[in-house]
Amino acid sequence: MAMRSTTTTLAIDGNRLLRRLGELGEIGADSRGGRTRLALTDADKAARELIVRWLSEAGAEVSIDRIGNIHGVLEGRSGLPPIATGSHIDTVVRAGAYDGCYGVVAGIEVLQSLSAAGELPHTSLAVLVFTNEEGLRFAPDLLGSRVVAEDVSLEDALALQSSDGFSIGEELQRIGFAGSVSPRDLRPSHFIELHIEQGPMLEAQQLAIGIVEAVQGHSWWRVVIEGVANHAGTTPMALRHDAGAAAMQLAGALIRDAQEQSVPNVATIGAIAFEPGAINVVPGRATFTIDMRDESACSLVRAEQRLREALLRLDRGGYTTHAQCTSRHEPVTFDERLCGLLERVAITRGLAARRMHSGASHDAQMMARVCPSAMIFVPSHRGISHNPAEHTEPSQLVQGADLLLHALVELANNPETCHASPAL
Ligand code: GLV
Ligand code: MN
Ligand code: MN
Repeated sequence: MAMRSTTTTLAIDGNRLLRRLGELGEIGADSRGGRTRLALTDADKAARELIVRWLSEAGAEVSIDRIGNIHGVLEGRSGLPPIATGSHIDTVVRAGAYDGCYGVVAGIEVLQSLSAAGELPHTSLAVLVFTNEEGLRFAPDLLGSRVVAEDVSLEDALALQSSDGFSIGEELQRIGFAGSVSPRDLRPSHFIELHIEQGPMLEAQQLAIGIVEAVQGHSWWRVVIEGVANHAGTTPMALRHDAGAAAMQLAGALIRDAQEQSVPNVATIGAIAFEPGAINVVPGRATFTIDMRDESACSLVRAEQRLREALLRLDRGGYTTHAQCTSRHEPVTFDERLCGLLERVAITRGLAARRMHSGASHDAQMMARVCPSAMIFVPSHRGISHNPAEHTEPSQLVQGADLLLHALVELANNPETCHASPAL
């Protein structure tokens, strides 16, 4: 297939992109407008099967690696390593339809548009769909891309236990996505992830595009505080070892530090449970999660140090505490040359863009350890995400996919700029 001299007529099929996002969003849907598709559940299996079908329709060769990442590759004319895009299709509980899914469906749309136009790129293009990005059922998050980046070994990843008692390896076998390819086999030369912003900045500034140059670091904890369950009416306040009160005080101090001193930048207690869990029983045990994030590695370490000190004080005060760090990553800076290229292509496409940082975590931050990587954001209405109300205007979704298409084509057809590299 001959490469055409110009790519200006190339366009993604916006209707197909939006239709597919809607169809994918139906998998795992509930009656309240949300969907729950935790990693490696039956709903995730159904979504994966749909993605594999669409990748095949787009002319991609599909393979599955040993951690269940899906690779769809549109072969180029050269034997050079592919340029990759992609994201994830697992969700949080009661999620919106776009987080992760948008980047995957748009990536497929790029391949399909090129196939339909007979535009075989010089360099192969790949869409990567990463396993367990959200990290709800299996911690840590970003698991598929962590294995690719060798942040976690394949063996350790396969042995991880879910909150409901199954290992990743077992669940991959069960849903038919335990592939044979080594996660290290596919080494892209570049990675660009397209994602919704999940924050309010682009909408507030009426911009179509964010070029993401950095992602803040995060530190996730599961904390258990054990005190003594006792009668709520008869136990004097001074004689209690109330695990619930201790957990709430610790949580309150963390949130206050974030609010008043911005150390860390943001802190969230997303889940908490008291045992035995009764109105007239002083809690004997409290279990809760902590999510702390910061753009500064030092601030994140300081926040972690404060947490350890608070736990130590509880231990000295007659409680027993257990704290497990379930996920951690340092702040990440993306590739400057790739950000510059995205900026230039955005200008060419007439899209108003700004550089920005990401508050959320993304597979691209793991891929940044493997190859030059960057991200494109499109606006999120009212900055809402991890919520069924997540919304981006259809025209903005199409604009982001258009930018992805033209940025990938620019890279794929100019291998000397993307492989030689002091300057793109
Ligand atoms: C992923 O959505 C995260 O940032 O937690
Ligand atoms: Mn998410
Ligand atoms: Mn996401």
